[in-house]
Amino acid sequence: MADDLHPPVTVAITGASGAQYGLRLIEVLVAADHEVWVMISKAAHMVIATETDDDLPARPERLVVALTQRYGAKPGQIRCFGREDWMAPVASGSGASSAMVICPCSTGTLSAVACGASNNLIERAADVALKERRTLVLVPRETPLSAIHLEHMLALTRQGAVVLPAAPGFYHRPREVEDMIDFIVARILNQLGISHRLVPRWGEAP
Ligand SMILES: Cc1cc2nc3c(=O)[nH]c(=O)nc-3n(C[C@H](O)[C@H](O)[C@H](O)COP(=O)(O)O)c2cc1C
Repeated sequence: MADDLHPPVTVAITGASGAQYGLRLIEVLVAADHEVWVMISKAAHMVIATETDDDLPARPERLVVALTQRYGAKPGQIRCFGREDWMAPVASGSGASSAMVICPCSTGTLSAVACGASNNLIERAADVALKERRTLVLVPRETPLSAIHLEHMLALTRQGAVVLPAAPGFYHRPREVEDMIDFIVARILNQLGISHRLVPRWGEAP
């Protein structure tokens, strides 16, 4: 970990709709001087290409350059890991500790994590977070939900993970999509204990 940065936060973007939530989370964490470890699934790249004007490179070594440039990160502040990069710190409990957020989280990854499948680095990193009792936040986006989805969410919650659905509220009167994205990103930051001013906290003046 770089000396002048706050502890790393792992952000995994999987193939549910709402890649913007995960990308904004990376942006805010970089601005807050956190080291950020990024994993983006193959399906997430398809979603990003569908939902945004972005065309992020798939290869980790090129992705890190693209994200570093885009968010003005310090050298080494962002690290990117590939699907089978088993030497990454997130792949083992003996690696450096990091809170992990899967945002958005597909129902596929949700179920794999609930079952401990560990078939790719995102699933393995979440499995490590659970076994090491580290902070793990999953941000699913699907509707309606099946009994399978709900049972997996309950199992993960019982394991100590936080299931934080991408369901923005409207009581802060969002005017733009960005306001709704920040509503969810603010909730994630609350779970991580990272202070922010993205949206006023309940009971605070706007
Ligand atoms: C444009 C697009 C939107 C999708 N939206 C969702 C979604 O909202 N929720 C979900 O669970 N899966 C969604 N999927 C399906 C997942 O991407 C698919 O199940 C994939 O296997 C998930 O893989 P991953 O978990 O490794 O990223 C979407 C796929 C595409 C291409």
